Amino acid sequence: MSSLPPVPVLLVTGASSGIGRATSLEAAAQGWHVVLAARGVSSLEEVAAECRKAGAASTLVVPTDVGDDTAVEALVAATLDEHDRLDGVVNSAGVVAYGRTEEVPVEVFDGVLRTNLHGSVNVARHVVPVLRRQGDGRGHGTLVLLGSVVGHLSVPSMSPYVLSKWGVRVLVQQLRLENRDRPGVGIAYVAPGGVDTPIYRQAANVAGFAGRPPPPVASAERAGRQVLDHVVHPGRRGQLTLANDVVRFGHQFVPWVYDRIIETSFAIGATDLRRPVEPTAGNVLASREQDNALDGRHGSALRDLVGNVATRLTGGGRPRS
Ligand SMILES: NC(=O)c1ccc[n+]([C@@H]2O[C@H](COP(=O)([O-])OP(=O)(O)OC[C@H]3O[C@@H](n4cnc5c(N)ncnc54)[C@H](OP(=O)(O)O)[C@@H]3O)[C@@H](O)[C@H]2O)c1
Repeated sequence: MSSLPPVPVLLVTGASSGIGRATSLEAAAQGWHVVLAARGVSSLEEVAAECRKAGAASTLVVPTDVGDDTAVEALVAATLDEHDRLDGVVNSAGVVAYGRTEEVPVEVFDGVLRTNLHGSVNVARHVVPVLRRQGDGRGHGTLVLLGSVVGHLSVPSMSPYVLSKWGVRVLVQQLRLENRDRPGVGIAYVAPGGVDTPIYRQAANVAGFAGRPPPPVASAERAGRQVLDHVVHPGRRGQLTLANDVVRFGHQFVPWVYDRIIETSFAIGATDLRRPVEPTAGNVLASREQDNALDGRHGSALRDLVGNVATRLTGGGRPRS
């Protein structure tokens, strides 16, 4: 891609929490212009204040639901009105639902696909033409789409999320193919493993148990730095941890082993079986912005792992799927 100007313009969706918040703060610390989007306005304003304090050249808050194509169009237009260009876009908006395929309520299932998959398409639909027409015929700028290690796997109790992330990964491949004629346009893919953010507690849940980031758990700040690095170097490897590669290898090359152990590994490593959860739509259908934050405060993965093993050994905490 063409090199970034001295003070780049970065648009971040999902900017009010977790990885999007950390990416915005990292860009602000480097003196960039940041445009911040998510559904809830108060938590966005909070992040804007943090970004100004961190050193952002400017902040612009545009409350936006990425599942709404017209709203995304207006978001991109507002950014161009303010800055007249776009150097980077990070689509970090995302939601999770736990439960068996047939048990997740239809509006929640569709809501996860709407934000994670259709949201990614909506962002690409309005961002890519801008990147293509910048840079004197070569194109200019990077679109980063947030996938996940589960976009390469099957995982119990996470059907809509898994489907959405497989879709995002394929969307990246499509966009790369379609933009080969513009060497200045970067389409970056970032697939985190476990990151300590609020997404697990914000999740819709009919599974009955709490989710948590699987080890090795990265901080939101670390993931944010890695995401921002992909804005500058869109060709970088998308997998954020080596553990992603191990589990992907298992799924692809020894599926008979993977399928036998994933239910138990997931229950022990990616849940907190000691914390029952009542059925909830979480933040899938509407923002619960009071719970947006930089990190998820999940604490020690080892402690939960030991607790989960003990719960299993005493016959409790068996997820329904
Ligand atoms: N944390 C992990 O372990 C992990 C692992 C792999 C991949 N990821 C991916 O990384 C991305 C960021 O996740 P995170 O962990 O940082 O989550 P998070 O802390 O829950 O943040 C999610 C952000 O998305 C916003 N959002 C949700 N629905 C939206 C919508 N329809 N339109 C616009 N904004 C919306 C939320 O704000 P509002 O609710 O106010 O809109 C919030 O700012 C997601 O794509 C997630 O799938 C995370």
